[in-house]
Amino acid sequence: MFKRFILLTILVLSVMALAACGGDDKPEATATPEPQAVVEPTATEAVAAAPAGDAANGAKIYSTICIACHGPDAKGVTGLGKDLTTSEWVATQSDAQLVEFIKTGRDAGDPLNTTGVAMPPKGGNPAMSEQEILDIVAYVRSIHQQ
Ligand code: HEC
Repeated sequence: MFKRFILLTILVLSVMALAACGGDDKPEATATPEPQAVVEPTATEAVAAAPAGDAANGAKIYSTICIACHGPDAKGVTGLGKDLTTSEWVATQSDAQLVEFIKTGRDAGDPLNTTGVAMPPKGGNPAMSEQEILDIVAYVRSIHQQ
């Protein structure tokens, strides 16, 4: 009789422990939608910042600097630059983030690097101005196929 009581107590305790574990999962589940909420402002930011650059002027600069590695149609050059027209990474970046990327480039050792080839800061043209970078970003946006 007493043994049964102990068994029952153990059973009740394990059910309670299981329920407690289940309860722990809930705050995590509610926490997951948060990153999505963070993504939205960057998307609107990209739209808001779009008129800052002159895509036509950006095309001219592209054809003197970026073309060497990304090719005349921006489809990339094997062993040099990547395809910019279909880049999913470009699509995830705001204009401000793309400006920052062009300024700093991407080292061969960067965790984001996928080719093992470095993208030099400002495409290797340190004289490039902030406005010129904004123009290039507008151009890159205009040729990007979603
Ligand atoms: C010396 C060669 C070189 C030049 C010049 C160059 N790039 Fe790049 N670029 C690269 C390489 C290599 C990568 C890919 C790095 C990697 O593996 O992630 C890259 C990557 C990029 C990316 C990211 C693409 C992605 O999907 O991750 C963008 C955007 C980009 N370049 C824009 C430009 C622009 C705009 C210019 C002109 C101002 C330019 N690049 C000039 C070599 C170059």
